[in-house]
Amino acid sequence: MLKVDGLNVRYGKSHVVFDFSAEVKDGETLAVLGRNGAGKTTTIRGITGLLPGASGRVIVGGTDMSGWPAHRRTRRGLAYVPSGARCFPNLTVVENLDIASHANGDGWTWNKDRIWELFPRLESLRHNLAGGLSGGERQMLAVSRALMGNPRVMLLDEPTEGLAPVLVQSIAALLATLKSTGVSILLAEQNHQMALRVADRAAFIEKGRIVEVLPASRARDSEVLHRILGV
Ligand SMILES: Nc1ncnc2c1ncn2[C@@H]1O[C@H](COP(=O)(O)OP(=O)(O)O)[C@@H](O)[C@H]1O
Ligand SMILES: [Mg+2]
Repeated sequence: MLKVDGLNVRYGKSHVVFDFSAEVKDGETLAVLGRNGAGKTTTIRGITGLLPGASGRVIVGGTDMSGWPAHRRTRRGLAYVPSGARCFPNLTVVENLDIASHANGDGWTWNKDRIWELFPRLESLRHNLAGGLSGGERQMLAVSRALMGNPRVMLLDEPTEGLAPVLVQSIAALLATLKSTGVSILLAEQNHQMALRVADRAAFIEKGRIVEVLPASRARDSEVLHRILGV
């Protein structure tokens, strides 16, 4: 569903992501794991088309989007949820969903009723201002906003960032629910334990390079994690 081939990203003269290549199959969740500063965010933003210093091929559902501007990639099914779960704080939950809604021409459509079915908690908060939601609820809204664009692939950047440890569990549940919709997910995380609970495979990156790709069942092995991450 997503194929990234030979992605390189530079900020001016500084080369940050080196030859990132990966595939995410239909309905699969691929975790991109690595320490702070390893290049996770840069990799994701390189895939979205938001970084002028990115080169390489990005194919979504058979459509080669290489060189396309970000908004066109979004319209054709590539959704991006940045870390921090940005929403419009002065709009209600419903309003945030309404302005995120757009068709991608696939005829596979999300609407608010389907969102409420998936996340009943959001329905109970629908007339609340997004700015008043808790961190976990805001992440739920950010993911729902992305779904309203009818994505084939969702790029999620560190949904646990800035959340209290007690909320990490709720993010794992949120991701499991998201995965149940069948959307393909690329999940960047520093919290490898949480990510490996929901991922099917994991790509480990260090200093902007993939050092290992493993099935999640293997990556959960503490000896493997120790060897790769030194944890
Ligand atoms: N806008 C930028 N300009 C220059 N260097 C950047 C910029 N953003 C990130 N970097 C550098 O790129 C590297 C990877 O950063 P990032 O992708 O944010 O890592 P991660 O998301 O894994 O923490 C870091 O060394 C960081 O300092
Ligand atoms: Mg990051």
